[in-house]
This record gives sequence, C-alpha cells and structure tokens, in this order.
Amino acid sequence: MSDKARDFDTIAREVFAPIYPVIARQILEHTGISSGRCLDVGCGTGYLGLAVAEQSDLELTFFDQSGYMLAIARENIAARGMEVRSRTLQGDVVRIPMQDESTNLAVSRGSIFFWERPALAFAEIHRILSPGGKAVLGGGFGSAALKEQIAREMEARDGQTGQWRTKISKNLSEETVRKYEKALREAQIPDYDIDLSEETGFWITVHK
Ligand SMILES: C[S@@+](CC[C@H](N)C(=O)[O-])C[C@H]1O[C@@H](n2cnc3c(N)ncnc32)[C@H](O)[C@@H]1O
Repeated sequence: MSDKARDFDTIAREVFAPIYPVIARQILEHTGISSGRCLDVGCGTGYLGLAVAEQSDLELTFFDQSGYMLAIARENIAARGMEVRSRTLQGDVVRIPMQDESTNLAVSRGSIFFWERPALAFAEIHRILSPGGKAVLGGGFGSAALKEQIAREMEARDGQTGQWRTKISKNLSEETVRKYEKALREAQIPDYDIDLSEETGFWITVHK
C-alpha cells in the first residue's frame, strides 16, 4: 500500500471529512439527478462518491488512475456498507473504459487540477454522459467557513503558514477559469457553465 495514498486518506478522514456531504448535497440539488449511474472521476479514497451514494439512489463507479487510492476506496465503501451500489474502476480520465452515454452524472472534486490534458478529459467525460446527463467538475470546500476551518487545520498540521492557502487560491482563481474555458472550447463541449465563488469554489457543469 502506498504511503501517499494512506496519508491522503488520513487527511481526508481527519480534516476534509465535513466537506463531502455538503458538496454532495450541492451537486445533487444543482443537477436534479438522484438516480441512475454516477461516476466519481479521480475519486481518491472515495469520500465524495460515498456522500453522493448516501444522499441519493445513484449507483456509483469510483474511478481513479491510482490502484492504491482505489484499494483504500474499497475499504471505505465496505466500512460504509455501500458495496451493493458501488464498483471501482482504474484508468486515466483521458480514456475512461466505459461505453458511450452510460452515465447520468459525473462528479469530480480536487482532481481536475492534476489532469495533464483537460480538453481530452472533458471530451471523454462528455462521451460517457447519457443524454440529459450532467457533469460537475472542479474543486471547493463546501462553504467559506469550512474552507477557513480546513486552512487552519492544514497549517497547524504542517507547522507552516500561508503555503496551503496560496495553492488553494491559485486553483480557485480567474486564471483557472480561463485555462479550463479554453480546454472546454478545444473539446468542443457545446453546453456548459462555470461558477467561481468564495463560498463554493470553482465548478464546471457540463450539460449533455
Ligand atoms: C486530491 S485527490 C482528490 C480525491 C477526491 N476526489 C477527494 O476530493 O477527496 C486527486 C485524485 O485524482 C486522481 N487523478 C489525478 N489525475 C488523474 C487522471 N488523469 N485520471 C484519473 N485520476 C486522476 C489522483 O490519483 C487522486 O486520487
């Protein structure tokens, strides 16, 4: 088991935990999709997908390029009793091993910033969305108050000040909006919107 994946899971469980149910609720309300299939892209150790599953009737596919992350995601799925509505799938977002139009909802938090070829990734996510399906992709912490709480906890853990905040404010910026708008145009995604707010973060919604 990779120490990196285990360390990520510890932080997700001990620090980030309160954000996932809040973001899941926001996504479910924003899209109005609560049944069918949902893909969590770059799921890490699974907490957003699990929160989505717990607040809906959706069947979840937990997708990540890291087998180490997925191994821990499987432990977390079992611990929450969600095996029946869950499966894991390994691969790169630029080539998702799924059929065209096979997913009603795609969600992704905190992964998009690592995608080396975002235009290819957007085209691929659009391909696997069913007609009427939506994808909500981006990053955020649920609310400004939760973001502040997490920033303090991360700084207390690292014994550093400012570094974590600097990284997050770069990710959640107008520069980020411009970068991903360009990629969405390159991918010829016909229908999307982008939200950037202090409260919820940076989110792209793709409509099919
Ligand atoms: C910061 S973690 C976020 C995990 C989870 N979504 C969360 O919010 O807790 C980013 C995840 O994206 C995955 N990832 C990065 N690039 C990817 C790619 N090209 N294809 C699939 N997964 C990717 C990483 O392996 C990692 O698990």
